[in-house]
Amino acid sequence: MKNQYLAVIIFSILLQGKNSFAVGDQEKHLTKELSIEDQCNGHCFSVVKPFLDHLTELKVAADANMEMKDKISSLQSQLLSSWMQLKNKEHQFNFKDEEVKEKDKQIKENEKHITDLREQVKMMSGVLAEKNDQLTKINQMAENLPDTCPNGTPNGIFQIKVKGIDPFQVPCVPSGWAVIQRRIDGGVDFNRNWTDYKDGFGDIRGEFFLGMEKIHLMTQNQPHEMYIQLRDINGTTRHARYDNFNVGSESEDYELKSLGEYSGTAGDSLTKHLSMKFSTLDRDNDLSEKRNCADNGGGWWFLNCFLSSLNGYYYADGKRIATQPYGIHWGSWKDYDYTISLTFAQMMIRPKVI
Ligand SMILES: *[C@@H]1O[C@H](CO)[C@@H](O)[C@H](O)[C@H]1NC(C)=O
Ligand SMILES: *[C@@H]1O[C@H](CO)[C@@H](O)[C@H](O)[C@H]1NC(C)=O
Repeated sequence: MKNQYLAVIIFSILLQGKNSFAVGDQEKHLTKELSIEDQCNGHCFSVVKPFLDHLTELKVAADANMEMKDKISSLQSQLLSSWMQLKNKEHQFNFKDEEVKEKDKQIKENEKHITDLREQVKMMSGVLAEKNDQLTKINQMAENLPDTCPNGTPNGIFQIKVKGIDPFQVPCVPSGWAVIQRRIDGGVDFNRNWTDYKDGFGDIRGEFFLGMEKIHLMTQNQPHEMYIQLRDINGTTRHARYDNFNVGSESEDYELKSLGEYSGTAGDSLTKHLSMKFSTLDRDNDLSEKRNCADNGGGWWFLNCFLSSLNGYYYADGKRIATQPYGIHWGSWKDYDYTISLTFAQMMIRPKVI
């Protein structure tokens, strides 16, 4: 077939001279067709005509093909641009996707954080409930606590509950005595202010003062007796006992309201202090017009100034020079020689057995 087409093409070129129908549009071609019909009739026409028709068809097809090509190339470029756009969108989408993933991660982390917090809250609630239980138990125990040192027990620290104040610890000695003050080695400074004497200070296993508020409440709730133990540098001991010891409230400046009957071996160096208010270095309630007896003298029921003073400076050698701060004194024992400072003192109280 190819050879036949070729032959026809050559033939038609021969017929038309230099004219070529391969170039030019359909109109021209029709003109050429006419000229072929003009020049070629009879047998020639009947042979050539089908070829020409076929060629026209081919030409139309070729032109259509060109159109198609254009269309295709336009489609191609459209496709390419669409593809580019798609790629771009895909890229954007991927980017968004990353963002979404990141947000997702953050949300998950936040959720985990919230869960953790919930767990913590749960745990804290548990701890709180436990503490509440403990508190209830402590309160129940507090109601069962003794209000004074138990009788017939060995030395030791005991928790007691006195009406009007939270439970507190106190050193107890046999026969139910509660120690409220102790001097033993000078390890604790007794030159203190009002607040310290009110609340207490020191080490209840060593030197300490229990606190005026506690002493007031203990002696207010029930009659108490007091036992004072003393020792000097030579190891000699004496004691003083009062059978009705009572201290007023803070609004009464912890006045020494009552002592009762004295008995003992050290002599009575306290009854003269009756109805005296308590003084500290920052609260001058004594009878001296000129000075505060508690200035460098520790807290006491000073008058002007004292016959006894057990909270003064601790002189380890038992000697005090007259110009030095007051020491630990019990005048009636040492003939009111205040150059002698005691090296041990202990004040104890217990409910009075009536
Ligand atoms: C009392 O003395 C203590 C230290 O022993 C101190 O912390 C407190 O602030 C003092 N209080 C007053 C009212 O001066
Ligand atoms: C301790 O004993 C010595 C020797 O007997 C005596 O000189 C001294 O005065 C005594 N001290 C006291 C505080 O009694």
